[in-house]
Amino acid sequence: MKLHGTATINERGNLAIGGCDATDLIKEFGSPLYVMDEAHLRENCRKYYQAFSASGAGEVLFASKAFMTMAMCRLVEQEGLGLDVVSGGELYTARRAGFPMEKVYFHGNNKTPAELRQAIEYGVGHIVVDNLYEADLLNAIAGETGALVRVLLRITPGIDCHTHEFVRTGQIDSKFGFTLPTGQALAGVKAVLERGNLIYDGLHCHIGSQIFELESFGYAAEVMMTFIDEIRRETGVETAILNLGGGFGIRYTEADTPGDVAEYARIVLSAVALEAEKRGLPTPKVLVEPGRSIVATAGTTLYTVGSVKEIIGVRKYVAVDGGMTDNPRPALYGSRYESMLANKATQEPEEVVSVTGKCCESGDMLLWDVSLPKVESGDILAVSCTGAYNYTMSMNYNRIGRPAVVFVRDGKAAVVVERESLDDLIRNDRIPPYLQR
Ligand code: LLP
Repeated sequence: MKLHGTATINERGNLAIGGCDATDLIKEFGSPLYVMDEAHLRENCRKYYQAFSASGAGEVLFASKAFMTMAMCRLVEQEGLGLDVVSGGELYTARRAGFPMEKVYFHGNNKTPAELRQAIEYGVGHIVVDNLYEADLLNAIAGETGALVRVLLRITPGIDCHTHEFVRTGQIDSKFGFTLPTGQALAGVKAVLERGNLIYDGLHCHIGSQIFELESFGYAAEVMMTFIDEIRRETGVETAILNLGGGFGIRYTEADTPGDVAEYARIVLSAVALEAEKRGLPTPKVLVEPGRSIVATAGTTLYTVGSVKEIIGVRKYVAVDGGMTDNPRPALYGSRYESMLANKATQEPEEVVSVTGKCCESGDMLLWDVSLPKVESGDILAVSCTGAYNYTMSMNYNRIGRPAVVFVRDGKAAVVVERESLDDLIRNDRIPPYLQR
């Protein structure tokens, strides 16, 4: 397992993250446990800030769907990033954390009237309008409340990039946004310009996730600048903001070949500047919305090994005390991860095993055919790069509670999300009167 951020092997021969011994973390906070390396999170935020924001050419919004908690909102604010939210729940979390609302961008292909009202009431900086229905709805709600709302339009530029089919959101056949090649996008901009309570500030697109081909982002920037030129020709209106979404890929395993954030910034900022100059357009402010590449490598999930079952000549199953409930990505997308035994970190691999979870479901697998030292019940298994879309996609199938989340830094650990208790699991259950005893 590649060690990311502050992860090391300590003098006890154990995995340590943020100066905290993994086995001690399990003793103190229980198992399984999501561990977030705070210094590494901040380092990732700073790389983005330096590459995009420092010059004033761009701005970075953390895509909170990747990892959303109130503590994360505080950290993101401290690091000078804005926030992308996609639901009333993410918005509420940000608000309760005291996140500056003017730095929030509210996305979503089907925001409800209640969510739009909530956003206006909170004074959210920009709403990313996804479709005509929403433009009308938002305009009406803004009219009722006397607000003028700044908007971007989500555009589907029709760019295909090489990533997993389930997380592609940039092709024409997409539930998201106004389609560019069909003319729907221009009609959308005109419609927004005609709605008296909406202020047109710019455009948004998101071409996909876990992308390694950085040229795809440059190409998206060019396509969007061509559209910005068309908007000016057709309407005379200039575009202040171009939000190019997220999608920068990370290394989960050695098969992944991520680029460099500074290079990513150079490609998109120079593509936008060049196109603007060529076309005599003002250079819009470039926004990006990284999620995975801020948080994925900062997260490690620690599990305790329970049953170990060998089917001679077939497979050795190692069962841990979590699984698809805390990490549904292998089951959903066939995602692969690296792992190690945190309490046997200096031992050589000895056997090939497959790691399964504890759900009543054969598809509840975390790792297939991984080489580990001899695995025994009670060992602590660490799975790396679980910081993105693990906690946020976790679930309570089989009434399994979500693990706690801790931030670790300089030898200290702080709980940022408490472990779900048995009472948490029945908190919203009600026994109607006719079933009462
Ligand atoms: N902006 C928008 C509008 C998005 O839809 C997304 C991700 C992002 C930004 C952040 O993208 P990132 O930098 O994290 O790639 N659950 C899937 C990922 C779904 C991504 C959806 N949108 C997974 O676990 O791989």
